[in-house]
Amino acid sequence: MCGIVGYSGFRQASSVLIAGLKRLEYRGYDSSGISVLNTQGLVTFKKTGKIINLQQIVPKDLQGLSGIGHTRWATHGGVTDRNAHPHNDGKNSISIVHNGIIENYISLKEMLKADGVVFKSETDSEVLAHLVAKFYEDDLEKAVKKALTLVKGTYGIICMHRDKPGILVGARNGSPLVLGIGEKEMFLASDVSAVIGYTKQGIYLVDREVIIVDENNYRSTDLGYQELDKKVEHISWELEELEKGGYPHFMLKEIFEQVDSIPRAYSGRIDEDLATAKLGGLNMTNRELLDVERIKIIAAGTSFHAGWVACYLMESMARIPCSIELASELRYRNPIVEKNTLYLALSQSGETADTLYALREIQRKGGRVLGICNVVGSTIARESDGGVYIHSGPEIAVASTKAFTSQITALYLFTLLLARMRSLSWEEGTTFINNLKKLPEMMQSLLETKDQIAALAKKYAHYQDFLFLGRGINYPGALEGALKLKEISYIHAEGFSAAEIKHGPIALINEETPSFFLVPDDGLKSKVISNMKEIKARKGLVIALAVEGDEEVAEIADDVLYVPRTHDFFYPFLMALPQQLFAYYCALELERDVDQPRNLAKSVTVE
Ligand code: M6R
Repeated sequence: MCGIVGYSGFRQASSVLIAGLKRLEYRGYDSSGISVLNTQGLVTFKKTGKIINLQQIVPKDLQGLSGIGHTRWATHGGVTDRNAHPHNDGKNSISIVHNGIIENYISLKEMLKADGVVFKSETDSEVLAHLVAKFYEDDLEKAVKKALTLVKGTYGIICMHRDKPGILVGARNGSPLVLGIGEKEMFLASDVSAVIGYTKQGIYLVDREVIIVDENNYRSTDLGYQELDKKVEHISWELEELEKGGYPHFMLKEIFEQVDSIPRAYSGRIDEDLATAKLGGLNMTNRELLDVERIKIIAAGTSFHAGWVACYLMESMARIPCSIELASELRYRNPIVEKNTLYLALSQSGETADTLYALREIQRKGGRVLGICNVVGSTIARESDGGVYIHSGPEIAVASTKAFTSQITALYLFTLLLARMRSLSWEEGTTFINNLKKLPEMMQSLLETKDQIAALAKKYAHYQDFLFLGRGINYPGALEGALKLKEISYIHAEGFSAAEIKHGPIALINEETPSFFLVPDDGLKSKVISNMKEIKARKGLVIALAVEGDEEVAEIADDVLYVPRTHDFFYPFLMALPQQLFAYYCALELERDVDQPRNLAKSVTVE
C-alpha cells in the first residue's frame, strides 16, 4: 500500500526521498510524488506510474534539505497526477503525505468548502492539508493535532510548512510510521526499508502518536501534549537484503533463499535433548500452555494458507483442536472468544489491517493473541500478547514465498512444543526434528529442477484457466499454488480439495483447463489418483507433483514434477517450492511485472 517518507538533514532532500520511495516500491503503488522546501517555498512534483516517471520531472539539481514523499495505491479517486500525493493547501503553505483512509472526509470536505476551500483532487487525503492550513497559527504541531482531532479513520502522515524549514510533523493511527535517527539528519518512513541505507537506529510510532522532528532532534507526544518516552531500537535488517543480489527478480531470489530462511526460522529454537522446541517470546508459562484447549489462527492470503497447513499438524500431532479463519471475516461477526482458546495472528508484514483489527477485537474480548510475524517491531508483533518471529528476512516481492515456508516452520515448532507437553513421545519428537532439519537439503535439490519447471511453465503459460488440487495437509498448499499463479501471471486459477471437484468444479474441465495435482505418497494418494483419473476421463490435462520414482502417477499425468520423499507432515514445504517456481516462470513467459503485479500491494494496511 502507500509508502511515505520524510527527510530533514544536510543532504539533497529530493535524492533521499526518491531513493526512499524506491525502497518502498515493493509495497505496491500507482503514482508517486515529492515536496521539497527550498528558497522558492514548497516545490511539489507528482506523477502517475513508476517512480522513473517522477524522476523525469524532478530537476536533478533541485535544492532543499527537507521534504516529504509518497507512493500512492489508489483508494479514493482514480490514478491521476492530481490525486497523487503530496497534497498542498490552496496557498501552498502546507504539504502533506498520507497513508490510510479518512473515513469522514466527505463531511470534512463540505465544512472546508463552506470556508471557500477549493479542492484539486478526488482524494480523502487532501482534506488533511486544508484542515492543517485552517488551524495553522505559526505552530505546525498544534495545527496538525487540531486537525487530527476532527479526523475519523486511519493515517500515517507527514506534514511540513513553508515557514518552518527543516521541521516535519509525523503522526500515526493505524498506518505504520518509523523514525530513523541519523547524525544531523532524521528520516520518517512507513517502514524501515526506506531508512536502513542511512541509519540502524529507529523509533516505531504507536497509534495516536505525534512526532515533531528537525535535523537534530525529535519529540514525541500523544494527540494532546503528553510527552512519550520512546525507546530507540536497533534495526536488524541489512541493506543487502533489500537488493536483488544478482537475481532478475526479488521473487526468484526469495524462492531460492528458502534454503536459508527455513533453518533461520528453527535455529536456536530446538532442544535436541528434550526433543522439543524452545520459543522465547511466547510470554506464557508451561502451565498456561498446558491449559490451552483450542487454537484459532487468524490470517489473510498466503498467511492464511500457511496457518491452515499448521492446523492439520496441530490436530494430528498435538491433538489440540485447531481452526483457521480469515481475519477479515472474524472481526465483523462478533466472534465468541473462549477462555482456554489461544489465538495466533499470522502475518508476514505484521501490518495487515484485517489481521490487526481482528487481533484487537479478540483482545478487547479478553482473548490472548500470539503474533507470528516476520517484520520486527511491526504493529501486530507489538500489540500481540507474545509471539514468534519467523526471521525470513525482508520479503520484497509482492508474492509471498519464503515467508510461507518460514511461517509453517515457526508454527510447526510451536506445535512440537505443545505436542511434547501432551502425548508426543521423545522418540516421535526426535524423528520430527530430524525430518525438519532435512528440509533445507531437500529444498536445495528442488531448486536444481528449476529448468524443468521453467520448461513446463513455457508449455502451459498460455492456458487461461487452471485448477490446483490437493488433499489433507496439502489442500491449503493447492490453494496457495493457485494464489501464486493468479497474482503474478493473471492466469485464472482456483484451488480446491481434489475430493470436491466432483461437487461442481469438474464442470470446468476440458482440453483447455489444466489441473495441477499435489500427489504425495501419503494415506490419501489412492484417493487423489482417482480424482486425477476423473479429470483424464474428461480430456483434462494433468500436471502432477509427485514423490521421486512414483511411476503410477507418471503414467496417468501428462507431465510430472518430482519432490524428494519425506514424512507426510513435511510435504507442504516441498510441494510449495515447485508451485512458486511454476508461477514465477509462467509470469515471466507472459512478461508480467513479477515483483509488483498489477493492483496488488505488499502490505495491505486498509480494510
Ligand atoms: O503480511 P501478511 O502476511 O499479513 O499479508 C497477507 C496477504 O496480504 C498476503 O499474504 C498476500 O496474499 C500475498 N500477496 C500473497 O502472495
